[in-house]
Amino acid sequence: MCGIIGVVASAEFKRERRLGTLIKQALKHLEYRGYDSVGFAIITYDGRLVVRKSRGMIDAVSVKLGFDELDGYIGIGHTRWATHGPPSDSNAHPHIDCRGRVAVVHNGIIENYMELKNYLMERGHSFSSETDSEVIPHLIEEFKKLGASPYDAFKAAVSVLKGAYALAAIDLDSPDRIFFARSTSPLVVGIGSSENYVASDIPAFLEYTRNVVVLRDGEVGYITSDEVHVEKLICGRAGHSEVSSELQVVLNALEAVPVDLRNRVREIDWTPEMAMRGGYPHFMLKEIHEQPQAVSSTLAGVASEVRQVAEHLKGVERVIVVGAGTSYHASYIGALLLSNVAGVWSIPIISSEMRWYLRSLGEGDAVIAVSQSGETIDTLLAVREAKKLGVLTVSLSNVVDSAIPRESDLVIYTRAGPEIGVAATKTFTTQVVALAYLAAELARVKGFMNSGEFTKYVAELRRLPEIIAGVIAQYEAKARRIAKNMVNKKSAFYLGRGYGLPISMEGALKLKEIAYIHAEAYPAGESKHGPIALVEEDFPVIFTALSDEEYGLIKSNIEEMRARYAWVIAVVPKINNVVGEVLKLASECIPLPPLNPAVAPAAYIIPHQLIAYYTAVFKGHDPDKPRNLAKTVTVY
Ligand code: M6R
Repeated sequence: MCGIIGVVASAEFKRERRLGTLIKQALKHLEYRGYDSVGFAIITYDGRLVVRKSRGMIDAVSVKLGFDELDGYIGIGHTRWATHGPPSDSNAHPHIDCRGRVAVVHNGIIENYMELKNYLMERGHSFSSETDSEVIPHLIEEFKKLGASPYDAFKAAVSVLKGAYALAAIDLDSPDRIFFARSTSPLVVGIGSSENYVASDIPAFLEYTRNVVVLRDGEVGYITSDEVHVEKLICGRAGHSEVSSELQVVLNALEAVPVDLRNRVREIDWTPEMAMRGGYPHFMLKEIHEQPQAVSSTLAGVASEVRQVAEHLKGVERVIVVGAGTSYHASYIGALLLSNVAGVWSIPIISSEMRWYLRSLGEGDAVIAVSQSGETIDTLLAVREAKKLGVLTVSLSNVVDSAIPRESDLVIYTRAGPEIGVAATKTFTTQVVALAYLAAELARVKGFMNSGEFTKYVAELRRLPEIIAGVIAQYEAKARRIAKNMVNKKSAFYLGRGYGLPISMEGALKLKEIAYIHAEAYPAGESKHGPIALVEEDFPVIFTALSDEEYGLIKSNIEEMRARYAWVIAVVPKINNVVGEVLKLASECIPLPPLNPAVAPAAYIIPHQLIAYYTAVFKGHDPDKPRNLAKTVTVY
């Protein structure tokens, strides 16, 4: 995954902040993409290429290597999530060529790096890391030896790469520009007033500009302080050229067409404050508290997109909803909504498992791809494959113009604002709210709902921001109390039926990923078919029911767990007889406002988010940067 940043000003431009500090701050905004090592390369005002990098997290490395002291007018930076080669000083980016004139940062995976590395080593290049990325500066060096200009050498190097990459490179032989290229891994250009930027994600430069160009696959180019130049590399699509070709042949075959950016510059409505912690100890807690606003903005913004998608889905018989991680849990809710509210046959599938279902899909079917980042490679591939079969593709994403929306036939955008915490919270609630809206709109256009029922349903959706705010206010303290007891647990079960199942799955994922407690979600009815063997005194079992119907079905399962002295926590609707029974059966009862179960998931997930957050905090973990995880997964 990894995060990259590049910034270029004119050599005369002196900003208030030193370049080292600017790059450090930008990398802090990208830390969610990886945080095992960090580094940067700067061209100083006296024309030297300075590279500093180390294993470790940004703040510590910055102090150790004196990032804040360094200044210059052009630089690149990188925060790493290791793929090839473990976290170490030498594997940290940037990587440089043999002569120390070219520095490159890379996000992605170069699949043919071994072949390239052997080829370059035969030609006398020496390597100092185990990474796939290090071949890139050496390739640039090799093409320059053939007389190519620095930019042509960069493009030629890109043209022999196979795999996924977002690249930024600086070259002492062309010291006023940053070269960039994109294939699959995300990359955006930020257009400033006296500087330009290139980065893996917008928050990196949001403090300086809101004018962005989202780069597309196969695009290469460069930024100077006052120019953004983009080309489409014709022979340079990943995998087109072979390293076995003579390099001169590769160079001669290089062909690129300029890209007209006039309609591609977007002014985004995110503010710098949105990407800051704003007084909260962690982004995750801030983002949990932002959910009323995120849901309200999404409901206010999606109406016309939802209407358009519903019109297209009207004649469709089968809908597959795909996603990964939290987005899969939202997909699960989406499939239940389409089946139960709109009467359309629908199932959820984990994106990486989609290939096994493709053979039976075709025209007349639809795929809804759910992805907050819009970049998850497994989900992107699911969309691509479905499209090839003539399936209608719809995406639900939080990032405008990202890869999955761009490749889909239709798109609905959630309006959650930037989500920095690695654990998804506000993007999940906005996804389920958008899907609930879509299901109702589809039910309406299909005649499954009359206009009175539709109006009532939408009115209930619109009450959600207030309800979510109330749930947070009422249960944050209780979640802290439950979390205090959870910290000593090794394992937990999350059980539910109907909508309660995907909420349980999401609750279990939150506890796993940030509190490092093994947690499994099951349909409550399945527990007696095996899992209950693990239950002993004080084993945590968290039940979720979103309606009295769901509660009626899990009641006997609660009894079974209680009979084994489990520590039972129950999230249930505040209906007198339900709460009365739960108070007798469970150790902890969290009664929430009774809602239409199709509308309720966005409210019923809140206690789970809070319990996981406080458990992580009490265990001393940083919930924003869980180990081994990165927010956007662009490798399969
Ligand atoms: O950007 P996406 O929604 O496609 O990301 C999918 C998953 O990688 C993501 O939801 C992941 O599971 C989060 N860490 C969940 O908190």
